Amino acid sequence: MTGQPLLDECRASGECPSIQNIPSWADYMKLLTPSIEHLPAYVAALQMGWSPDNLRAEAAQEQIASIEKDAASFVSNLDDPTAKAGPIILPDGSKVPRLPSIRRWIWDDEFCGHISFRWMPGTEELPPTCSGHIGYAVVPWRQREGLASAALVAILPEAKAVGLSHVTITTSPQNPSSVRVIEKAGGMLIRTFTADSALGGHEKLEFRVLLGS
Ligand SMILES: CC(C)(COP(=O)(O)OP(=O)(O)OC[C@H]1O[C@@H](n2cnc3c(N)ncnc32)[C@H](O)[C@@H]1OP(=O)(O)O)[C@@H](O)C(=O)NCCC(=O)NCCS
Repeated sequence: MTGQPLLDECRASGECPSIQNIPSWADYMKLLTPSIEHLPAYVAALQMGWSPDNLRAEAAQEQIASIEKDAASFVSNLDDPTAKAGPIILPDGSKVPRLPSIRRWIWDDEFCGHISFRWMPGTEELPPTCSGHIGYAVVPWRQREGLASAALVAILPEAKAVGLSHVTITTSPQNPSSVRVIEKAGGMLIRTFTADSALGGHEKLEFRVLLGS
């Protein structure tokens, strides 16, 4: 079970307290599995200059080129629980093996952003070159509507479904809106640390969100 049915079950069980904070996210926001049907709206956001990679602005143009080459493969590789899509390019240009991941498009009448969840099977640990289990971004013209907050709470059941007891989410101390999004999902600050040099070596905050028993 995934997506809305899983969310409904977790809400009904009362085991994920943070889910109760947003009583009706589905009324105004949906998480869609990337599809060819919705790809034009995604491309429009890229063409307006939105980058799907918070650390690499050039990812927008790279993705437009990939879509022009093979749209079906592009879409299929976005949602990648078997890590088939090949290595990840880090901000310093180095490459690391891809972790299993899922990606969802945040949708409210239009493409609004995306959220991804990646994990190492069988453990809550992550390699130092992975900046947390969950990453998200909302297009600038739809920010401050509660969309990232709703999307984060809505994707937590997926992490629980692969057996994790908690997720780690990292952000910059200079990103107060992201900090707020994490706190609203129940995130507890664990530590301040310096990110791996391949990720830019910036100061980061690490939060933990418990997923319930
Ligand atoms: C971070 C980001 C995803 C937030 O998306 P969003 O949909 O605007 O977030 P929400 O509307 O759900 O919530 C934003 C919260 O931050 C608060 N906020 C916004 N700007 C703020 C600021 N300068 N100082 C403090 N709080 C701020 C909002 O008031 C809101 O909190 P509230 O609901 O308690 O009022 C979005 O700004 C973004 O895409 N940024 C670029 C990518 C990024 O930084 N991703 C996160 C990487 S870890």
